[in-house]
Amino acid sequence: MAKIWIQPGQDALAERYRAVRALTQALATPLSDADATVQSMPDASPAKWHLAHVSWFFETFVLRDHVEGYRPFDDRFAYLFNSYYEAEGPRHARPMRGMLTRPSLNEVRAYRAHVDAALLAAMPHLPEAACTLVALGLQHEQQHQELLLTDLQHLFSLNPIAPALFDAPRAMPAPVPGPLHWIEGREGLVEIGDDGKAGFAFDCEGPRHKAFLRPHALAHRPITNGEWISFIEDGGYRDPALWLSDGWAWVQAEGIEAPLYWQRSEKGWTRFGLDGRQPVNPAAPACHISLYEADAYASWAGARLPTEAEWESAALNIAPTSGEQLDGAACPRPRAAEDGTSLTQMFGDVWEWTGSAYRPYPGFRTAPGAVGEYNGKFMSGQFVLKGGSCATPRGHVRASYRNFFHPHQRWQFTGLRLAKDL
Ligand code: AVJ
Ligand code: FE
Repeated sequence: MAKIWIQPGQDALAERYRAVRALTQALATPLSDADATVQSMPDASPAKWHLAHVSWFFETFVLRDHVEGYRPFDDRFAYLFNSYYEAEGPRHARPMRGMLTRPSLNEVRAYRAHVDAALLAAMPHLPEAACTLVALGLQHEQQHQELLLTDLQHLFSLNPIAPALFDAPRAMPAPVPGPLHWIEGREGLVEIGDDGKAGFAFDCEGPRHKAFLRPHALAHRPITNGEWISFIEDGGYRDPALWLSDGWAWVQAEGIEAPLYWQRSEKGWTRFGLDGRQPVNPAAPACHISLYEADAYASWAGARLPTEAEWESAALNIAPTSGEQLDGAACPRPRAAEDGTSLTQMFGDVWEWTGSAYRPYPGFRTAPGAVGEYNGKFMSGQFVLKGGSCATPRGHVRASYRNFFHPHQRWQFTGLRLAKDL
């Protein structure tokens, strides 16, 4: 019998495709159609929209462009599920994504199944360029797995009955960690950016280039909730001297007094998570803070935020698969901090704000065509975050990875690690 020749690379790609798509489905399993339809704020998307949009990405950039005779599942979906690609034409307004009571969640599941069947059938025959787009589509879907979780957490947080999407993970009682240790960083010329050895990198991670580091040190762990409570109790949110001007305006306009999802009760602080409302664990990394809050805390502590180059050069010999990251459909939660005399929790747990602007590296050029819009056009007014979080699918992040958000945004699992000059 004739055996169809399948390149080993494509075989592995098909396996990864199945695994990534299955995790998305598993994350969405506990959702009702209502859970999956509502949009809690313009920054967040309904779960149903995420499930469809990642499928539209494969359908458009792989199936439509590289598979002859492919028939789209529904011609109207391009308008609904194109996120921001101007080159792909007009689209439904982002703040109105929560109005899509149709298609139903079941129809979106059928859309996913249609795309999966077509893509897996085409995989053995795909040209190299299309395989590269499948690989990009998988990284894209992993980004949306994290967004799906953070958007659901935001949505559920607005419900006064504080529903839990997942069972609370087993309690991990941990001693409150001792004081910060300062770990001296590299000094002088270093190289940062994608070196081509990671197997995959987004365009914005390159070109690799030199950066000059002045004598500095990084804290061995992120700032904890316990430390954050000291900042609150010391009046940190009420002292304009600690805040950037934009940050102080934000604190006042929004009435900010604590990290997102925190509430004060007679028994102390609680926070909302995908496991419902729970007591704040003083040993866990502070989470759901904006860059403004991170910067104010650093001022209060007599320190500063790390630069992206300092963070990345310190992370080079640390396994990017380490730390608390997403392994399956379970509640994401940062682990308690540890004592240590070397860097801990660089990867996973909480994204770490840097003081570096999300701007192109020297020599960066956006790729031609629609996928060129993926990262490059967002390089204005946002800051870089490094290291991934407890909601980042394990295997997705690496030292050169550049996440980015606006300085007031804090619904992602965002925390901080201090740096200081030596
Ligand atoms: C890198 C998380 C800021 O949220 O738009 C999703 C990820 N890019 N689809 C975002 C992304 C295209 C991106 N962030
Ligand atoms: Fe997207």
